[in-house]
Amino acid sequence: MAVTFRKLHPHFGAEAAPIDLRRVHDPETLAAIRAGMDDHALLVFRDQRFSDEEHLDFARRLDGELHTKTGISALKKSRFGNEALADVSNLTDGGQIQPADDRRRMYGLGNRLWHTDASFQDPPGRYSMLFARVIPPVGADTEYADMRAAYDALSPELKVRLEGLRVHHSIAHSREILGFAFSQKEQEILKGAVHPLIRSLPRSGRKSLYIAAHASRIIDWPLPEGRLLLLELIEHATRPEFVYRHQWRVGDLVIYDNRATMHRARPFEDTKYPRELRRVTTLDIQASAATHQA
Ligand code: OGA
Ligand code: MN
Repeated sequence: MAVTFRKLHPHFGAEAAPIDLRRVHDPETLAAIRAGMDDHALLVFRDQRFSDEEHLDFARRLDGELHTKTGISALKKSRFGNEALADVSNLTDGGQIQPADDRRRMYGLGNRLWHTDASFQDPPGRYSMLFARVIPPVGADTEYADMRAAYDALSPELKVRLEGLRVHHSIAHSREILGFAFSQKEQEILKGAVHPLIRSLPRSGRKSLYIAAHASRIIDWPLPEGRLLLLELIEHATRPEFVYRHQWRVGDLVIYDNRATMHRARPFEDTKYPRELRRVTTLDIQASAATHQA
């Protein structure tokens, strides 16, 4: 099956020509999608019709092992009975819109901070596949930023200074910024992970800034100095020139490379309109092995 891509932004992101991913099993097409991810870091596939099982199966076919230790799983069991399928919705277990003070809603509001998925785990997340089932009429977009282009735009002096630095990522940190409180037990589960600040992407040979709201400190640096550097890097990396805004349509599957992009949800009247997406994220086993060898 041939698959072709049309660019969506000068730096990254492309839309695939019509293709039904449920029927993509042949190694050539899967390899072409992976090569598309190496080039574009984000791919949009329109008009998909995945069941949950088909969504999970496609993610495994494309990129292997699935991430199941989501942040929310430390708080509450998934309503789908499968932690690999992240519930990115504003619905209760009964399918109603969450009230404003719902704990899951308040936790989910953290998606409005710039982040990458599963950077607070080891192995971290590699590809996320976010599938739109219900989209409100009011525009509830997701913004993505290209961390390869952001890295390339740093001064040569700063690139040298950042090389080799390690960063602690914790989802408790990004939620605590918003005043969300965790129990002792939740904090133990969510203790976080350490990853390099600069990632080398094996197949494209490019480098990227691996930062997120989850990034709590630079290992070996005084706390305020590290936090300031991380805030400055996030500010730099999310300048408008690096950002693509995705306006969702029902049936969209957006695949993004968490090693090479950050993203954030944009606000909408979420106590009024239902919005329902589901996400499957794969694990970057290779990166974890490299960190532990270093
Ligand atoms: C996610 C996420 C953003 C959105 O699913 O990981 O951050 O707009 N979603 O729902
Ligand atoms: Mn996310």
